[in-house]
Amino acid sequence: MSAQIIDGKAFAATVREKVASHVSRLKEVHGITPGLAVVLVGDDPASEVYVRNKGKQTLECGMNSYEHKLPDDTSEADLLALVQQLNADPTVHGILVQLPLPDHLDSDLVINAIDPAKDVDGFHISNVGLLSTGQKAMVPCTPLGCLMMLRQQHGSLSGLTAVVVGRSNIVGKPMAQLLLRDSCTVTIAHSRTKNIEELCRTADIVVAAVGRPEMVTGDWIKPGATVIDVGINRIAAPERGPEKMKLVGDVEFASACRVAGAITPVPGGVGPMTIACLLANTVTACARANGLPEPEGLTA
Ligand code: GUN
Repeated sequence: MSAQIIDGKAFAATVREKVASHVSRLKEVHGITPGLAVVLVGDDPASEVYVRNKGKQTLECGMNSYEHKLPDDTSEADLLALVQQLNADPTVHGILVQLPLPDHLDSDLVINAIDPAKDVDGFHISNVGLLSTGQKAMVPCTPLGCLMMLRQQHGSLSGLTAVVVGRSNIVGKPMAQLLLRDSCTVTIAHSRTKNIEELCRTADIVVAAVGRPEMVTGDWIKPGATVIDVGINRIAAPERGPEKMKLVGDVEFASACRVAGAITPVPGGVGPMTIACLLANTVTACARANGLPEPEGLTA
């Protein structure tokens, strides 16, 4: 048997359509255009690609996109001053400071300087606290995308067992909180977890977010389970020729596919959902800022 492949690219397109339709309503009925500001410090090529894609998709959904590119040697004071300026700007509803920042800048300090209501990454300490106490928060984009795919797959998640492999602040911890909120029985596994394979084999849902290429293999998976692969790892692909590279997830796709009920591929699974959820969070932030109803189907 072969697992159903969850098409993140197609799903992300439906999320973007919903975002675009909320944006046109905000514009036509309320005369408000949601705006997303993205701040990039330095010239890391991977970050530049991300930021370009974010800007393009923001405009395609009918929102305003503001890009702030700062030099590599920007001082913390100057970066904080820009964040304060964006916090005070009523045309900006979402602020994203692209990570990683250069080493001389304190990421926690900068992220926690963002107005929590505009923190579309959901990384501000207030949003972390709101999420973990079940209150209305801005939710980190990648786990939000995973949750949307899981809800689509299962309907209700209530009572299902979930193992989240990975304990990062960006994915593992918020993912576990979201699954708990949807009444899953949740375990977070990590590099020190004993019998991690056996633990995963008990799970109806496995979310792999460890950043280790193809660590989770088919024999870790319970037959019929849903597998969400958050990993994006670039590894050598000698079978494709000398110096060729390929993208793989944290799950060994071929073996997991033979056991799982449903699985996200890499690329084309979780990846496209992350930017789609950033756009969703921006519309949500805009609606909340203006006291309007939350866009349906785009929030946790
Ligand atoms: N760098 C890579 N992914 C992300 C993300 O989702 N948010 C931010 N702020 N930086 C990133």
